[in-house]
Amino acid sequence: MRIEDFELERFFARYEFVVRHVLCASDLEGWPMAEVLALADPESDALWRGLRLGYTEAPGHPLLRAEIASLYETIAPNEVLVFNGAEEAIFTVANVLLGPGDHAIVVWPAYQSLYAVARAVGAEVSLHELHESEGWAIDVDRLRQQVTPRTKLIVVNAPHNPTGNLPDAATYRAVAETAADAGAHLLSDEVYRFLELDPTDRLPAGADLGPPGISLGVMSKSFALAGLRIGWLASQDTRLLDAAARFKDYTTICASAPAEILSLIALRARDAVLARSRRLIADNLALLDGFFGRQSEHFSWVRPRGGSVAFPRLRASVPVDRFAADLLEAEGVLVAPGTVFGHPGNHLRLGFGREDLPVALDLMEAFTRRTLG
Ligand SMILES: Cc1ncc(COP(=O)(O)O)c(C=O)c1O
Repeated sequence: MRIEDFELERFFARYEFVVRHVLCASDLEGWPMAEVLALADPESDALWRGLRLGYTEAPGHPLLRAEIASLYETIAPNEVLVFNGAEEAIFTVANVLLGPGDHAIVVWPAYQSLYAVARAVGAEVSLHELHESEGWAIDVDRLRQQVTPRTKLIVVNAPHNPTGNLPDAATYRAVAETAADAGAHLLSDEVYRFLELDPTDRLPAGADLGPPGISLGVMSKSFALAGLRIGWLASQDTRLLDAAARFKDYTTICASAPAEILSLIALRARDAVLARSRRLIADNLALLDGFFGRQSEHFSWVRPRGGSVAFPRLRASVPVDRFAADLLEAEGVLVAPGTVFGHPGNHLRLGFGREDLPVALDLMEAFTRRTLG
């Protein structure tokens, strides 16, 4: 398979671990492992202490699958398949559902693998472009017009990376209906689910909307445990999961034994885990609101409705690539220019899930005042 470079990941590969402040990460500040272990209930604590480092069960530890299933309304443990990160799950879904002659529709701008893998396996991909002028909302009528007789997959991501958009429930159901009417699967990338700013805005999970729905989840974002590299697919379509399991025999076979138990601990303690995440997001977003209020002359700001990223636009005549490079050089603060999403609109992706955001944002504000006035 030939596949295009993943621009955002190449960007992070170059900068993430050498800069002073990463102000564009989508993950949340990772938990210290000792604090995760302190959350363990007696059963998972015993599993941790007695853990043997052999291969693990290919579909995922049975207790972990059960715990993941409990995140959904209708999903049984055998309707969950564990992967090494959401990324492996995306790679697998595109490979088992799509091939030459097939068509997929992917909401865009997007996390690149959501459309790049589909293209690499030979499918034709139509991007469903979101526009800042429409509040980054999905346009269901336009989406319907993009469906063809060959459409096998529609991919949405809510809350959305990079814009922070979260469709209302009616729009989301209409998207699911569009997929069902087309006889296509709906891949619902829900890695930022549970980070809705208003919890009443939480959408039903794709997997709970019937067999064409596939929910994609991960420990990296809402659960703030990216280092575990545990992700999953949940779907009532067990034939699809079976095909995915067969494909995974050729990627990683099974997940890491310690990561599975740590994920189990965190999911069982999810009220505490998610409360920490939501607090971090809310505090940081309040600071971003202040920044963009003061800097409205230089930036447009569509406030995210969920997730941990936002996609403001630099209004100044300075190209965003230059702004980002100069900010990094002057202050050691990393922001991701929209060009790493292939987006031409002079936007930048900011992440607000990290604990050093207050410091990083102060540095960015001082830089903005100095250079843009
Ligand atoms: C929308 C979306 N989907 C999937 C992923 C992949 O998650 P992971 O890197 O934890 O596998 C990301 C990571 O940034 C993402 O933003």
